[in-house]
Amino acid sequence: MERMTSMLQTTANRQLDILQRLDNLVQRYGKHSSTLIPMLQEIQNAYRYLPEDLLTHVATALDLSPATVYGVATFYAQFSLEPKGKYVIQVCDGTACHVRGSMPVYEAICKKVRLVDGKATTEDGMFTVETVSCVGACAAAPVVTINGEVYGKVTPDAIHVILDTLESRGDTADA
Ligand code: FES
Repeated sequence: MERMTSMLQTTANRQLDILQRLDNLVQRYGKHSSTLIPMLQEIQNAYRYLPEDLLTHVATALDLSPATVYGVATFYAQFSLEPKGKYVIQVCDGTACHVRGSMPVYEAICKKVRLVDGKATTEDGMFTVETVSCVGACAAAPVVTINGEVYGKVTPDAIHVILDTLESRGDTADA
């Protein structure tokens, strides 16, 4: 019970904190549509996705329609409307990476983190695995990024070592 109360408090504090930061952005940049992207970035950074209630808050704060905010949120690949894992693994499947074996790497990652039923995020919220188009590092193909950090010339064996290293740090989804 105590743990539940503490978790609810943490969630409420987090919500208050992000609302404060969003208000600060409106104060700093003004109630303009150009403030929309910084606000969405702030939310994405805090939650790793854009919760619906916060999108509504942004629309109200900037006097924009929810449809406009939603349209921008879905246009840019950097934003997600679904919760993502603590580690976002992006496997480049551009031409250079594809011909140098990106798909076996992708399959090895999915197997290693135990992704099931075609889902992109693991049940424990640790990993999200996606494919992306060229990330601009073709010379190092096949390329994988983990939370933006680039790993080049990745093989299915290498991915085991990389992911084991992440896990050995003892990280958890709530960290
Ligand atoms: S095709 Fe993968 S980095 Fe360019």
